[in-house]
Amino acid sequence: MLRNLLIILVLMISVSPSLSAESEPGDRVLDLHGEQLGGDFTLRSSQGEFSLQQLRGKVVLLYFGYTKCPDVCPSSLALLSQALNELRDAELQQVQGLFISVDPKRDGFQALDDYVNYFHPNLIGVTGSEAEIAQVAKLYGAQYLEVPLEESAFAYAVDHSATTYLISPQGELRFLLPHQTPSVMILEAIRYLLAEP
Ligand code: NI
Repeated sequence: MLRNLLIILVLMISVSPSLSAESEPGDRVLDLHGEQLGGDFTLRSSQGEFSLQQLRGKVVLLYFGYTKCPDVCPSSLALLSQALNELRDAELQQVQGLFISVDPKRDGFQALDDYVNYFHPNLIGVTGSEAEIAQVAKLYGAQYLEVPLEESAFAYAVDHSATTYLISPQGELRFLLPHQTPSVMILEAIRYLLAEP
């Protein structure tokens, strides 16, 4: 049953990546109904400049959110970490979670590190300027919007898309996992990519 569901998922979203052997980094995109998604980017983590290219050789789970998110991010990251916890150590070494904060005004590197480490040690928190984040979100088709909160002139929430993007060890965007995808499906998708030649 699960296998069948995954195959359907694969058919739906893993449309042949427009990719050839001589593709340059950054050309590694997924053609989703004519929309080109994915590609390399550079942001920053607490360790300095961070580029997606540094994760070649690993399956990457990419997610856009923010640390003050009341419910969406915590539930997504909980499912993600459940999937990571099911991996054997050898597999885990080939998998990296990447959390991009879309709230750079409030998410400093310390807060980001504390937040992602709370969920799983294989998660890195990265962010950048508003313009840089907007560019990466556009690459992946992620959306977010600041929504003012009534109680305070300074408080806001950030509505955001909650897709988890699975990127192959070659840097190709391969799966779009919708919000609340069960951890067992996330696990299947990770292993599917790990098992590819
Ligand atoms: Ni969130």
